Amino acid sequence: MCGIVGYVGKRQAAPILLQGLAKLEYRGYDSAGIAVRDGEGQAEVVKTKGRLSVLAEKTDNGNALKGTCGIGHTRWATHGEPNQKNAHPHVSGNCKGSGSGVVESEVVGVHNGIIENFVELKEKLLKHGYQFYSDTDTEVAIKLVDYYYKKYKMGPIDALSKSMMRIRGSYALEVMFKDHPGEIWVARKDSPMIIGIKDDEAFVASDVPAILKYTRSVYYIGNLEIAKVSQGEVHFYNLDTDEIQKELTEITWDAEAAEKGGFEHFMMKEIHEQPKAVLDTMNKVVKDGKIDLSEVGLTDEEIKEITGITIVACGSAWHVGMAAQYVFEDLARIPVRVELASEFRYRDPILDPKNLVIIVSQSGETADSLAALREAKSKGVKTLGIVNVVGSSIAREADNVYYTMAGPEIAVATTKAYSAQLMAMYCLAIQFGFVRGTIDEKEYSRLISELETIPDKITRILSDKERIQWFAAKFADAHDVFFIGRGIDYAISLEGSLKMKEISYIHSEAYAAGELKHGTISLIEDNTLVIGVLTQSKLYEKTVSNMVECKARGAYLMGVTGYGNYSIEDTCNFVTYIPKVDDHFMTSLAVIPLQLMGYYISVARGLDVDKPRNLAKSVTVE
Ligand code: AGP
Repeated sequence: MCGIVGYVGKRQAAPILLQGLAKLEYRGYDSAGIAVRDGEGQAEVVKTKGRLSVLAEKTDNGNALKGTCGIGHTRWATHGEPNQKNAHPHVSGNCKGSGSGVVESEVVGVHNGIIENFVELKEKLLKHGYQFYSDTDTEVAIKLVDYYYKKYKMGPIDALSKSMMRIRGSYALEVMFKDHPGEIWVARKDSPMIIGIKDDEAFVASDVPAILKYTRSVYYIGNLEIAKVSQGEVHFYNLDTDEIQKELTEITWDAEAAEKGGFEHFMMKEIHEQPKAVLDTMNKVVKDGKIDLSEVGLTDEEIKEITGITIVACGSAWHVGMAAQYVFEDLARIPVRVELASEFRYRDPILDPKNLVIIVSQSGETADSLAALREAKSKGVKTLGIVNVVGSSIAREADNVYYTMAGPEIAVATTKAYSAQLMAMYCLAIQFGFVRGTIDEKEYSRLISELETIPDKITRILSDKERIQWFAAKFADAHDVFFIGRGIDYAISLEGSLKMKEISYIHSEAYAAGELKHGTISLIEDNTLVIGVLTQSKLYEKTVSNMVECKARGAYLMGVTGYGNYSIEDTCNFVTYIPKVDDHFMTSLAVIPLQLMGYYISVARGLDVDKPRNLAKSVTVE
């Protein structure tokens, strides 16, 4: 996820672009850049690695660049390390060095989204004499526009339309053509973009916060639409290059609400971004119904040789490992250990040389997880990182990396990154099983088809969130909450309990349901909330029995289970039903109501949901 801005009008563009990018930095912050042109002159590009402040300093807050038409970008790397040459804007010509300075190029542009077929497009362009200076999919898109612009000589609309017909993926694309001064051309598919208008000025942005300071009058450009943005004017076109009319909309949000996409907190916004995060992470490796790990870098031969897996992580990432161990062992019949990084790093672990150590980390900078990675490498064991931040320490130091595609996660309590990590694990486990022959072609296809239903099922659960909100309010003053389950349901309980603790400050424990009678059940008293996770068919009755034991001691029971298990209402005081998917993948669905429970209780208690006390988004110290 990145942030793009554009301005054309009577004022100097650069300061306006920087101010807009500052409002979008939550969308990405590993590098940034702007391109500004003054009248007929060539665009001048300035790009920097690091936070936006570096770009602002380099351009004297934009005052160093002259021109009333420009575009800008703040990056969250998906293809290509975070560095200056990969930063946007990108140009159709060849770049010496990092690509900053006045550029002799026909097309200059920025992009938010993912070009899924950029490799094949790059090969096509190389055959036509194009050279590439960056590792990004965006540079390919910009050069493709240039290719069609020069080949058919029918102007920007035609060049963009032909490019859109070739590109597969998502994009909010903004380009400037040398021959069309004072104009910004945009094209959109799936990635967000709005176009603001005010007197003789026009603004382009990924999101409302970037332009709210200037105007509340905006156009929402539709999917597969093109627009020409000039001083105070916007013209829209469809893919057939016919002009289309659009309604102007008035924005009613306040600035702060706008940054959160209209949600009250980043956490709720990110909870709602989970379907896309899960889908994009799956599409990273699932191509035409098959799993392709070539980008991850694990070959079939390596997969066949692995004798065991050790999953190492902290917090919620460790909970992903706790769920994934069951999936890997069931599907691939590989022994799996799950270790807390802070324990693993000091225990001089005994590792088989043919083990695979998987380090799971959203930030890729967690000190304990990084140290665990180095410990594993010191023993000569192959390492794989499942990481959300491109170019982070763990991503760079692991032998292989599977990048989750959750985009920047701002709330301290992880939700979409956790869900994306689960999806990455499922894909690995299915592929390991298939390559090692423990699942046949038919089961392979069935399991992949099951994965493909998860995003929509998450959306369906979220459509009923008010019911969780109502229930959560009843327990906002709880002192102790217990989450219990067996197998994968125990792993789900771990994550549900942590979500509750870290944002509502209510003491909570997750317990293997069968273990309660060995001591902890003594803590159950009248009205103690016990949340039973009941997604695993083979263990369902066993866990229900444990819940009944709690009820006999006064507990108030909440059940989380699949549609159809309605008999549970004879046991539970409250039940939240979720759509069913193959039992191996039920974590992805059962965790949603538990995320919502923690969120709503925290809100009911008036706490700082996004920045809970004592915590940091990335624990980069021991
Ligand atoms: C989860 O909500 C917490 N923010 C925390 O447990 C987190 O999962 C843990 O610190 C690991 O962080 P990482 O994924 O960035 O390594």
